[in-house]
Amino acid sequence: MRPPIDSGTVLITGACSVIGREIARQLARRARTLVLVASEREPLEELRDELLERNPTLGVAVEKCDLSHPDEVDALLDSLHRHLIHVDVLVNNADQGEYGLYEQQRWPRIHQMLRANVSAPMLLTHRLLRRMVERGRGGILNIGSGGGRLYIPGMAVYAGTRHFLEGFSESLRLELAGTGVVVTRVEPGPVAEGEALAHPPSWMSISAVQCAREALEGFEHASPLVYPGLAYRWMMRLVSLMPRPLMRATGLMAAKKLRRATSLLEDRGQQVLLASGSEAS
Ligand SMILES: NC(=O)c1ccc[n+]([C@@H]2O[C@H](COP(=O)([O-])OP(=O)(O)OC[C@H]3O[C@@H](n4cnc5c(N)ncnc54)[C@H](OP(=O)(O)O)[C@@H]3O)[C@@H](O)[C@H]2O)c1
Repeated sequence: MRPPIDSGTVLITGACSVIGREIARQLARRARTLVLVASEREPLEELRDELLERNPTLGVAVEKCDLSHPDEVDALLDSLHRHLIHVDVLVNNADQGEYGLYEQQRWPRIHQMLRANVSAPMLLTHRLLRRMVERGRGGILNIGSGGGRLYIPGMAVYAGTRHFLEGFSESLRLELAGTGVVVTRVEPGPVAEGEALAHPPSWMSISAVQCAREALEGFEHASPLVYPGLAYRWMMRLVSLMPRPLMRATGLMAAKKLRRATSLLEDRGQQVLLASGSEAS
C-alpha cells in the first residue's frame, strides 16, 4: 500500500523550515496540490512562488496558522473545507524546542510547545483521518526526531514530545492496518538546509535534500520508521539496543554538566547585578 502522494493533496506543517521546505520542493512535481502551513505568511508566499516556478500546474494553498492555538488550527481546517480542499496526505513536521532546565522554563512557553508539538499534530490527524479511512487511502507522515529515542537533559519538553510522537504513530499505525492509510515516522539526526551538511558532528549529519528524499522513500514503502542517513541509521540501531540503565548513566553525566553550567551562569549573573548595583549607588 502506497500513500497517495502522486496527484494527491498534501498538507505540510512547518513548510518553510529546513526539512518541510525540502519535502515541498520534492513533491512539487508529483502532488496535485500542496497546502503549505507556517506561522508567517511572507515565507509561505515566497515558497509558493518558488514551487510554481518548478511546476506551474501545481495547486498551492498557503495557510498562515499558529499551530499552538487550537482556534487557529480549527480556522485552518474550516478554510480547507470552504475551499473544498480534501487532504490525502498529512505531513506533521512543525515543532518547537527550547534548551534549559525544566524548572527554570516558564509554563506558558512549555504549554505552547506542548500545543505545537503534541496537540496540533493530534488535532490535524483527528480531523483529516476519518475521510482517509472512508476513502480507503491516505497517509500520515510524522517527522519526529532521534530525540524520541533518547533521554536529553536540558530538553525534557522537546524529548518528551518526540517520545510521544513515537507512541502515537506506532499505535495509530496498528489501528489503521488494512484501512489503506499509511503511517510513517521519521526520526532524523542533524540536518542542514538544502545540500549543506550540519555541523557538528559531521559524520552523521545529512542534507535536507537527502533527509526529505529518504523520508519520502520510506513513506512510499509504508515503512513504520525511517532514520535518514546511513551512518546515523546504524548509530540509532545501536542506540535502540542500548540497555536503559546505560542510557540513564550517559544522560546523568550530561545532566550534571548542565546543572553545574547553569549555576555558574547564575552566580555570574548575580555578581554582575551586585556590581552594577554598587556602581549605581
Ligand atoms: N533540522 C534538524 O536537524 C532536525 C533534527 C531532528 C529532527 N528534526 C525534526 O524535523 C522537523 C522539522 O525541523 P526543521 O529543522 O526543518 O525545522 P525547525 O527549524 O525546527 O522549524 C520548525 C518549523 O515548525 C514551524 N512551527 C513551529 N511552531 C509553529 C507554530 N506554533 N505554528 C506554525 N508553525 C510552527 C516553524 O514555522 P514558522 O517559522 O513559520 O514558525 C518552522 O517552519 C521537526 O519536527 C524537528 O523536530 C529536525
